[in-house]
Amino acid sequence: MSDSPLSDPTTLPDRPSRRRSWAERLARVESRNVTFLGSHPPFWTEAEGVRVRDAAGRSWLDFGGAFGVAFAGHRNPRVVERITAQAARLIHGMGDIHPPAIKVEFLERLAGLLPWSDARTILGLSGSDAVEAALKTAQLATGRPGIIAFEGAYHGLTLGALATTGRSHFRRPFTDRLTDHARHLPFPTASAEAELALERAGALLAREPIGAVIVEPIQGRGGVRIPPSGFLARLHRCARAGGALLIADEIFTGMGRTGATFACEREGVVPDLICTGKALGGGLPLAACSGSAAVMDAWPSSTGEAIHTSTFLGHPLGCAAGLGFLDALESDRLTDRARTLGSRALEILRSELDGCDGVAEVRGQGLMLGVELGGRGVRAPGAVVAQRALELGLIAMPAGERGEVVELTPPAVLADEELEEGLEILVRAIRAVGAECV
Ligand SMILES: Cc1ncc(COP(=O)(O)O)c(C=O)c1O
Repeated sequence: MSDSPLSDPTTLPDRPSRRRSWAERLARVESRNVTFLGSHPPFWTEAEGVRVRDAAGRSWLDFGGAFGVAFAGHRNPRVVERITAQAARLIHGMGDIHPPAIKVEFLERLAGLLPWSDARTILGLSGSDAVEAALKTAQLATGRPGIIAFEGAYHGLTLGALATTGRSHFRRPFTDRLTDHARHLPFPTASAEAELALERAGALLAREPIGAVIVEPIQGRGGVRIPPSGFLARLHRCARAGGALLIADEIFTGMGRTGATFACEREGVVPDLICTGKALGGGLPLAACSGSAAVMDAWPSSTGEAIHTSTFLGHPLGCAAGLGFLDALESDRLTDRARTLGSRALEILRSELDGCDGVAEVRGQGLMLGVELGGRGVRAPGAVVAQRALELGLIAMPAGERGEVVELTPPAVLADEELEEGLEILVRAIRAVGAECV
């Protein structure tokens, strides 16, 4: 990396003036909607494994895993090696006209992990791309435009995906642009709520031309909300009985994060379509919508002008990085690591935060963990904890509709000492903020 070790998180002098100057420069050139500068964010310049460093020389343990992307760690050597080799040969191809050969290699490797023996995939560059492709696939396969989605869901912000995202903050300014075919049901986290949601889904499917039911097996940005066991399987049966496809949005949960390749697997569910992204590209933009041939062949064969494609689809560097990620996933047994490290983290957090003021619940699966904070004293306590943790050398993300959760989605390459160090910082931040929550 550079001459000073990244393993020394907080000893370097904080130089807010320099950070401010990056912030000032950004404010002059980027749309003001994009970056929240009010919290004096660090401007990242380097990252490796679990550590990131900013332009002012400070470093952090990244327990957000860069929105869950760095599941194999930042700059995983297998990813870097694949990208470097590919960059020396071919940087850009013509996705759907003269396909880069490496796209075939990547799709074959991905197919080996998917739950269908004849998996077919449409690649994209972002999670939103994958969701758009899945919604279009469902429309073609069923001939029905309607969609059931869930409150609190996050499926992306492009117009099709946004219609399914269940947070009014993102939807409200664009309501008139969104399809009026999407219906949102409460996302259940308890058995009685699951019964109600299934009943309402059944009623909607009977009444309206619903072609897709889209669900995150665990709501990520919604605050690590885990549905009761059996809900996904019943939702799938309900969708099928009503003539709709079940789309599992595994963009956050997939590729090992929850301790299984796909979170659906833990529930014994093989959905009709799976969306993946984030971790899949090892840090490069890469996403996928996959299904069995029977479902995906709802798309017509291309006769030279594909009806769903884009300039950078199957980008050679993205596919190389994806192959590097899959190399790491397999060789370094990242899924197993996520399961083991996740249970350990849950155990530590539950014991350290037992009886702690303001802590409502500690929950998670694999390396997707959340601490929900309650009480009335602090607005968006998850965000306040995340900010406090940042000051102490740890990156954690606020989540939940009201910012009531602090979420951890660290890389699975985390060493035991890094796990302990990060959790210790988090517990300190929660104790400090929690006392103000009651
Ligand atoms: C479950 C889920 N689906 C879709 C998306 C959208 O992905 P992207 O931001 O890459 O478009 C996200 C992003 O956080 C996500 O968590």
